[in-house]
This record gives sequence, C-alpha cells and structure tokens, in this order.
Amino acid sequence: MKAKAAIDFNAIKYAKEELDRFMMPYKLALDEVNTKIDSLKQELQYVNDYNPLEHVKSRLKSPNSILRKADKKGYDLSLISIKENIRDIAGVRITCSFMSDIYLISEMLQKQKDMTVVDCKDYIQSPKPNGYRSLHLIIQVPVLMSHREDRVFVEIQIRTIAMDVWASLEHKIYYKYDGYIPKE
Ligand code: GTP
Ligand code: MG
Repeated sequence: MKAKAAIDFNAIKYAKEELDRFMMPYKLALDEVNTKIDSLKQELQYVNDYNPLEHVKSRLKSPNSILRKADKKGYDLSLISIKENIRDIAGVRITCSFMSDIYLISEMLQKQKDMTVVDCKDYIQSPKPNGYRSLHLIIQVPVLMSHREDRVFVEIQIRTIAMDVWASLEHKIYYKYDGYIPKE
C-alpha cells in the first residue's frame, strides 16, 4: 500500500497567516471608506435635509475569486503583483436615488484629502454595449497598521436604484445561469 504524504500543517498555518496579513489592510480600508460615506450621508441629511443614499454595500473579494481573476487576466500570481493589479479586492457599491446624486457623491468623495482617485470610468456617459451603466472610481486609501502604513486600492461603484436592478439581473442571467439564453 502506498504511504500517504504527510500533511505539512506548519506550511498551511504559515500560508493562512500570510493570507490574513495580506487581506487585513483591505478590510481596514473598507471600514475607513464606509465611515467616510456615513459621514457624508449625515452631513447631506443635516445640511440639505435630504439623503441621496439608498444603500451602501461593501465586500471583500474571496481569495478564490482573486486568484481566478489574476489567472484569467494573465497577471503574475505573487502577492505583490496581485496587490498592484487587482484593484477591486475591496469593493463598495453605493446605490442612490437619482442620477445627479451619483455625481454629487462622487465629487464629495474625490474631495476627501486622504483618498486619491487613480481611475474613473463613467459607464453612464458611455454605457457598455450590453447596456450596463454605473460610475466606477478606483481610489487609494492609506491604512495605518501597528508597524507600517499601507496604501490599498478600493473600487467604488456608484449607481441609481434603476441601474442597480438592471445590473443585478444581467449579472444573474450571464454569470450565475449556465443554461441556454435566447438572444431576445
Ligand atoms: P473586472 O475584471 O470585472 O473587474 O472588470 P474591469 O477590470 O474591466 O473593470 P470594470 O470597471 O469594467 O468592471 C468592474 C466591475 O463592474 C465588475 O467586476 C462588475 O462588478 C461591474 N461590471 C462591469 N461591467 C458589468 C456588466 O456588464 N454587467 C454587470 N452586471 N456588472 C458589470
Ligand atoms: Mg470586479
């Protein structure tokens, strides 16, 4: 009988620790951005007596999805390369009431001194061929850790409720359902 290879628990433990250490700044960045959005919301409510935000959802990409995306895009699978190239590990989606709110919120976020906007894709002025509409910002957020300061990318998607309903259905049809979809 062939002997089973011994499981190297130390290697697994080390890899797990390294992964946790890699993900930590992204979690902190999400907390940071969520706090800022919450402040904006309170200020708008107080100054204008109007809250344009319907809901705010944030998520961390799972390690599996990160690797799948890096592999699909042909990036090197090292942590350094992933940190530089995969810019939606931390993601926030803001849904607001009207289209003008999107630009108002985007402007307010861009004014924040400690966040730098490194990319902006306006799929509202130029919708994707399939009809997808949203404003995407990639920002860089400084995060303070016990031993160092780090800067990580966060993707912010801003859209109206109507755009969100459309995108959710489109996502379900094309990503989750693998049966035949008639063109019409
Ligand atoms: P990804 O590799 O998917 O991150 O796309 P990208 O790097 O070209 O960036 P882009 O700004 O185009 O898209 C980023 C994100 O926007 C995606 O991960 C989706 O969450 C969303 N998105 C982009 N295009 C579509 C679309 O056609 N339909 C839906 N439902 N969502 C989209
Ligand atoms: Mg994405």
